[in-house]
Amino acid sequence: MKILMVGSGGREHALVRKLKESGRVTEVICAPGNAGISRDAECFPVAAADIQGIVALAVEQKADIVFVAPDDPLAAGMVDALEEAGIKAYGPRAAAAEIESSKVFSKGLMKKYGIPTADYEVFEDPQTALLYIKSKNSYPVVVKADGLALGKGVIIAQDYEGAEKAVISIMRDKVFGASGNKVVVEEFLTGPEVSVLSFTDGETILPMVSSMDHKKAFDGDSGPNTGGMGTISPNPFYSEEVARLCMDTIFKPTIEAMKKEGRPFKGCLYFGLMLTENGPKVIEYNARFGDPETQVVLPRLKTPLIDIVEATIEEKLSTINVEWFDHACACVIMASGGYPAGYEKGYPITGLLGDGQAPGVAVYHSGTAFDGNSFVTNGGRVLGVTATGKDLKEAIKKAYEGVASITFRNAHYRKDIGKASL
Ligand code: AMP
Ligand code: GLY
Repeated sequence: MKILMVGSGGREHALVRKLKESGRVTEVICAPGNAGISRDAECFPVAAADIQGIVALAVEQKADIVFVAPDDPLAAGMVDALEEAGIKAYGPRAAAAEIESSKVFSKGLMKKYGIPTADYEVFEDPQTALLYIKSKNSYPVVVKADGLALGKGVIIAQDYEGAEKAVISIMRDKVFGASGNKVVVEEFLTGPEVSVLSFTDGETILPMVSSMDHKKAFDGDSGPNTGGMGTISPNPFYSEEVARLCMDTIFKPTIEAMKKEGRPFKGCLYFGLMLTENGPKVIEYNARFGDPETQVVLPRLKTPLIDIVEATIEEKLSTINVEWFDHACACVIMASGGYPAGYEKGYPITGLLGDGQAPGVAVYHSGTAFDGNSFVTNGGRVLGVTATGKDLKEAIKKAYEGVASITFRNAHYRKDIGKASL
């Protein structure tokens, strides 16, 4: 079986490696991929957002399944286009991917079906939004752009001035383009955050093992939001009791709701949860595998991923028994200094030892390129150094040992990934 992976980050690198573990997969190719991925899969220079280009590549390469990993092509209907062309695709159709690409849609869905989430209002013009924020007079307040915004569309404002700045930049200055035509203004919640990815074919939902992201750029959860600076799995706050509660009040009701709306969700549905005093609530849905959650969840998967992918496409997930390893996993992102704002690239990376740094340590490439035969930095997030261990303590220690052996100019990484679990 030949699989075409669409995307170019650490998540896609981890997916490629996992798919190759199954004997039934003879070849994995990737578009556009990156230098690190090209060591595991032949890469083709077709952009992840180029729907016609990917359809053509899948036909030309005779791919049996196309795995669409990033949010933009899913929202733009890449899976719909592949299916129309008679090609099997893994991922939700555009109508289902809207659970991520429109916060107005996802908040409305949760309200309609009684799925716990922060209280909110939707606004289509800045004046009304600001009048509402003023009348509520409760801070912090959360302002969210409706559409996709590279993970930067959520602003937590500490006072009216901050909220005003957020609303004006999103709605009037359109810093996220049309994604800011509407905003969601919502209640600020507190509590530990948990990421739960799930396999679903629209009918059956099989949650994966839990994980915890670290979204802020600097230690102690300070600094600006990023795409994610590191992850651990399992998430120490996600007890079996919480998991059962989430299954009954959030996971199953969401799958049911999407079915009732005529938008059955097939693929990986990501639940961003907050464990509040009043129970678990949904902070956000993503219509895809998370990055860097995937890097710590997939190494723990015992069942061949290809079996799950096929069962999802064929809507037979109820026949699959998904098994997990008992061990723990940690991923530390090495980023270019300056990220998530401006940074330089093209710096040589030293200390990468072929397939692995040490037993149980894997390096997934997020943003690397070749200079001749050597790897150089080529993005904000550069590498995800990932380790498995018998428990989180061991996994975290091994991941940092891996980080210590790798160098590039201006490398930045958090020193406290997983600290909350130790
Ligand atoms: P998102 O891009 O939706 O994942 O939001 C980014 C981050 O903002 C989340 O991981 C939370 O830490 C925070 N956040 C989003 N919504 C809320 C909320 N209602 N209350 C508190 N924090 C929030
Ligand atoms: N790590 C968060 C995300 O993938 O959106």
